[in-house]
Amino acid sequence: MKEQLAKIKEEALAALQAAASAAALDELRVKYLGKKGELTAVLKMMGKLSPEERPVMGQLANDVRAALEQALEERGTALEAAALEQRLKDEALDVTIPGEAVTLGRQHPMNIALDELLDIFIGMGFTVMDGPEIELAVYNFDRLNAEEGHPSRDWSDTFYFDEDSRVMLRSQTSPMQIRAMDTMPLPIRIVAPGRVYRKDEVDATHSPMFNQVEGMVIDKGVTMADLKGALNAVAEKLFGHGTKTRFRPHHFPFTEPSCEMDVQCHKCGGRGCPTCKGEGWIELLGAGVVHPKVLEMAGIDSEVYTGWAFGLGLERLALRRFKIDDLRLIFENDVRFLEQF
Ligand code: DAH
Repeated sequence: MKEQLAKIKEEALAALQAAASAAALDELRVKYLGKKGELTAVLKMMGKLSPEERPVMGQLANDVRAALEQALEERGTALEAAALEQRLKDEALDVTIPGEAVTLGRQHPMNIALDELLDIFIGMGFTVMDGPEIELAVYNFDRLNAEEGHPSRDWSDTFYFDEDSRVMLRSQTSPMQIRAMDTMPLPIRIVAPGRVYRKDEVDATHSPMFNQVEGMVIDKGVTMADLKGALNAVAEKLFGHGTKTRFRPHHFPFTEPSCEMDVQCHKCGGRGCPTCKGEGWIELLGAGVVHPKVLEMAGIDSEVYTGWAFGLGLERLALRRFKIDDLRLIFENDVRFLEQF
């Protein structure tokens, strides 16, 4: 039995030293030390020994077990270290190789202008609202008091999806006024930026797709004076302290009275130059006092509540803000142009 133990020890130690992986090592542990392992098999024969031999052999077997366990652990540690070494080698990174240059994007000038504008309105307590570009004519026209036959409903101006002109690409952000009245509790203060679509040919001042920002206030006792006060404050924030504005009468179906607001030309200070086409003024937006019919169609009592609204062209605002002279530059996304902002 003594020889048997010695043989097991010698064989096992050699095998352990040669084991090349954690899996191989585990197999050897089972083979020698496991329940059906070789060492266990020898130990099971202890019963057959004489009482004098038993403790001696027991001691010897324990020594062999301890030696194997120690070798197993040492080999395991060594294999782990070797594996780590190999991984470090495989995954080595040469930090001296020059990196690839990453070109950083930046904000589009139109979004810079939009953020500035929204900041101003948010500061005045307005909520920013988003809505669909595919719109129902009910919202884009009917409930904005532009009845059947109104020139803006013409097929030559508007992109319709269906024969009977009920579904369309919205031609203005004004339908957001109706959506706000339908969904929000009074009083309402909203701004709603977004894309709009019209059948226009592309040139220096036109595009079939452009962006508008709609705004609307509905509350008790709101008047045209509030409209002028608020929009003047916005113009001063956007274009600088002391910016002069003027309000010209105009017509929109959904406001009464209606107006257009101009700002004094920033280039010439009102004397007249190519930027303002000699006018001294630049048109900024359309606005007005919300028509009582529009309020009533939304179920709002026009005897109690009044409101004002505006709509402005965002690209035009960005052109003015950054002194850009061609609308197409805004859409082309030429990196050499965008890099300047
Ligand atoms: N929706 C108008 C347009 O596209 C602009 C406008 C005018 C919006 C007056 C308004 C408003 O909210 O009150 O030309």
